[in-house]
Amino acid sequence: MESRRKGDQPETGDRSPSHPQTKTNGSAGVVTVPEVAASKGQRRLVMVTATDEPSGRLVDRAGVDLVLVGDSLAMAALGRPDTLSVTMNEMVHHTRAVAAGVHRALLVADMPFGSYQAAVAEAVRNACRLVAEGGARAVKLEGAREAEVAAITRAGIPVVAHLGLTPQSFHRMGGYRVQAREVDDAIALVAQAEALATAGAFLLVLEAIPEPVAALVTRRLPIPTIGIGAGGACDGQVLVWSDLLGLSQGPLPRFVRRYAELGRIAEDAVAAFATDVRAGRYPAATECYPAPPGLAEALAQKFGRE
Ligand code: KIV
Repeated sequence: MESRRKGDQPETGDRSPSHPQTKTNGSAGVVTVPEVAASKGQRRLVMVTATDEPSGRLVDRAGVDLVLVGDSLAMAALGRPDTLSVTMNEMVHHTRAVAAGVHRALLVADMPFGSYQAAVAEAVRNACRLVAEGGARAVKLEGAREAEVAAITRAGIPVVAHLGLTPQSFHRMGGYRVQAREVDDAIALVAQAEALATAGAFLLVLEAIPEPVAALVTRRLPIPTIGIGAGGACDGQVLVWSDLLGLSQGPLPRFVRRYAELGRIAEDAVAAFATDVRAGRYPAATECYPAPPGLAEALAQKFGRE
């Protein structure tokens, strides 16, 4: 259906979500940063990642609060082994594609590895690119980067912070390991979370930490927390689109719950198409464009009949 050309079918322009959406501020149902910030203690937030226009459109229409163009797209969409090689240009490219499908949820784009670590001014410049060129309404960056969070926020761009397992630092962490398991590390994480909130972050992603640590951070912080492998006490949850839908392969972290097996459905559908083509069952007469009156006859006269 996606390949149907314009003109074959009238466009409906229907972009209303297919699920009842969560409470919004009434301005065309668009989820805003102040509204997300004010949701603390009122309702649970839902965030899902997206990598392109179709995934952005479907996630938005499903009624999530936030759509994240995560640098996990390196694995989810680009077939890379980790997130480290994703560039600013690639993040802008994918953010722009997702933005074309997202009309209601708050669109957040990840700042990729190398785009904010070297200098605060460069971090601000790159955050501006994700907003101006990509169409993001907020950016996310990993680690205890208070100076960068404060500077980007001062530039008028809302910032989501990310602590715990921060995949861009996986060489330092020695792999994708649960973080803050030792008392000192947990205490340090709480302090970092408080510092990031003070620096201006309006939301904090907590990845792969023990539930009691996430619960403590959530209790102490004035801003909402979003968990991924951080237990149920967070103010919201995020999953990666391809994990949630059964499009990813390989061993999955224990926090992933698959809500569909779209990978298997897609493979079966393509195999069925291949079988039909090889058997001459596709296309059927109803799937072909009929010739206008006289065309077949005129061609037969010029070229002869078969
Ligand atoms: O890149 C990503 O998808 C993320 C989420 C896992 C939070 O950072």
